[in-house]
Amino acid sequence: MALFFRNARLLRNQRLCLQVQQVFRYCDVAVIAAKQPFQVELIEGKKYYWCKCGLSKKQPFCDGRHKVTTIKPVRFEAEQSSSEIFLCGCKQTGSAPFCDGTHATENVQSANL
Ligand code: FES
Repeated sequence: MALFFRNARLLRNQRLCLQVQQVFRYCDVAVIAAKQPFQVELIEGKKYYWCKCGLSKKQPFCDGRHKVTTIKPVRFEAEQSSSEIFLCGCKQTGSAPFCDGTHATENVQSANL
């Protein structure tokens, strides 16, 4: 139940935040970029920046658009080369930058993108 209210608050904040961003270009709540994870190919030892704010046009990676928010991208280094990596697209994961299945919740799936 607590998770429901948390997610409901996030989605309400998302809509409000998008309006605030349009006016003030400033926000501290991540927006849902996609309702599913992004499958990516990573190279062992290479450093990546995962978009945490949800505004990047190069999902799931950062393109610098977080600068209108207080949110910073998540820097990580690939532990192994693989094309079977799933990075979070909903920005609600509890194990960033990786998908933890949170995108399957009703609140994410019913969100208006
Ligand atoms: S896409 Fe965000 S938890 Fe799966």
